Amino acid sequence: MRRNLLTVALPKGRIFGEAYQALKRAGLDLPPVLDERALLHGKEGGIALLELRNKDVPVYVDLGIAEIGVVGKDILLDSGRDLFEPVDLGFGACRLSLIRRPGDKGPIRRIATKYPLFTARLLKERGWVADVVELSGNIELAAVTGLADAVVDVVETGATLRSAGLEEVEVLARSSARLIVNRQALKLKRDLLKPLIAHLRNP
Ligand code: PRP
Repeated sequence: MRRNLLTVALPKGRIFGEAYQALKRAGLDLPPVLDERALLHGKEGGIALLELRNKDVPVYVDLGIAEIGVVGKDILLDSGRDLFEPVDLGFGACRLSLIRRPGDKGPIRRIATKYPLFTARLLKERGWVADVVELSGNIELAAVTGLADAVVDVVETGATLRSAGLEEVEVLARSSARLIVNRQALKLKRDLLKPLIAHLRNP
């Protein structure tokens, strides 16, 4: 097993670059990303950087493999994990919305999503009875093809919705990138993490 001063979990894709820069500006000496294909960056003994699928960031932080991570609130709302989330970093803004075909007003019997826990909670809160179908991507297609009569999905610019001819019926939650911290690490690596959190709160 590798030993590192600190291990940081970041999601590949949209928010990786902004998260990397924000942590650097806050004084964290992150390793350079030299090899685009590498999944783990940094030398043993220093700061390690893990590039993960966004859903896996809360898992690595909760289980203590990474002490800190950056991930969207949308992912946290579906993670089922109670993580310490001390800073809203502001970037990566998007929303989780209920989406249907225009004019579709009938009852929702089947709802497709890649956010099954969030969606199940929503159904329970509203007393709606519907099956939740978990899909992995291109969720809009479920509404377009009739696989489901509604979908819960992330909307950023709305371009995907418009091109699929779908309607955003309701914004269910607002999301942006959050710093998450393993609770035990917060105590054990307090000297390193406290100033980092303070810098990120007041950049
Ligand atoms: C998300 C989402 C929409 C799109 C919304 O997909 O599922 O398809 O982004 O963004 P927009 O409002 O700016 O068009 P993502 O790119 O994360 O890929 P996935 O659906 O394959 O998970």
